Amino acid sequence: MTENGKEVRVWCDGCYDMVHFGHANSLRQAKALGDYLVVGVHTDEEITKHKGPPVFMEQERYKMVRGIKWVDEVVEGAPYVTTLETLDKYNCDFCVHGDDITMTADGIDTYHLVKAAGRYREVQRTAGVSTTDLVGRMLLMTRQHFKQGDSEYSVDREPSKSMGQDRTARSPWTGCSQFLPTTQKIIQFSDGKSPQPGDKVVYVAGAFDLFHVGHLDFLEVAKKEGDYLIVGLHTDPVVNRYKCGNHPIMNLHERVLSVLACKYVNEVVIGAPYEVTKDLMEHFDVSIVCHGQTPIMPCEDGLDPYSEPKRQNKFKLLDSGNDMTTEKIVERIILHSA
Ligand code: CTP
Ligand code: C5P
Repeated sequence: MTENGKEVRVWCDGCYDMVHFGHANSLRQAKALGDYLVVGVHTDEEITKHKGPPVFMEQERYKMVRGIKWVDEVVEGAPYVTTLETLDKYNCDFCVHGDDITMTADGIDTYHLVKAAGRYREVQRTAGVSTTDLVGRMLLMTRQHFKQGDSEYSVDREPSKSMGQDRTARSPWTGCSQFLPTTQKIIQFSDGKSPQPGDKVVYVAGAFDLFHVGHLDFLEVAKKEGDYLIVGLHTDPVVNRYKCGNHPIMNLHERVLSVLACKYVNEVVIGAPYEVTKDLMEHFDVSIVCHGQTPIMPCEDGLDPYSEPKRQNKFKLLDSGNDMTTEKIVERIILHSA
């Protein structure tokens, strides 16, 4: 609010291709500068014209930005160069962008107009993550391991067990992440609210690697099963055991922030056990455990990870209505860069 009690409306815009926690962190900082956050997302056509075709289509990108908890409104098809007319049309006081320069195809700063009018603010870009970096991680792993003419991207990895015994070991799965996680970042992303008395607690668990529209749609339906949604995230070696190959692409810390940025999520368990145990269900007072339509991989001992909630009659299969998977994203990237 301003001194005269007027709501401060903030404008952000961008491509938001392969939305990641760096985007979410810029929107978090932007929202903190005002009361209401409007985010303009460019069309596929505009992006193709200025920096080449995006990996995700506009409908997917609009939906992903709408899923971020600091976003109040999304403007579809926002112009690439931010104009004062656009800010005025949406009643926004100023525009916020990360501290990197964005150019049009003609080399013009896309924010020159709002900068000249004094209606531009800058926030700190999140170091160590970008769409380009994520694409690079996927290509790196596939270039090294992709067998030409064969749809298999897998690679023989050291068994995950050897990791814990060797203190000099680097994670073979996430060694290329440059992001430095801090507890402060987790606090900033977390909503810090506990379930209220009587709240129905929903628990889901998974990898949630490269957080995508399939995850978002799944979490939306999962949230509808109760009042408070807890997402359990498995550690990198656990994910690698059942997803095999080169997964996960994002390390646990990065996956935590991606999931925390989602508006349907109330709490995250960092390094949740693969098996949903009685202790875990009691500890969080879980009313219902859900899983989507993707296959349920067995535990290391071959057992069903959901046998306890099933025994308690507290298990439900949900349909996200979306068939996106992390593997499909990797395939898209390969096609895209071919
Ligand atoms: N952003 C950020 N930190 C990052 C990546 C992006 O703060 N690590 C911010 C940008 O500064 C911008 C907003 O996210 O304010 C939207 O960015 P976008 O237009 O999608 O473009 P890029 O900056 O190109 O994002 P990326 O490099 O990930 O493609
Ligand atoms: O594969 P991952 O462990 O990341 O999936 C987490 C949860 O999201 C699982 O319950 C999975 O079934 C669900 N999901 C979904 N629809 C998708 C992708 C994942 O319901 N398209």
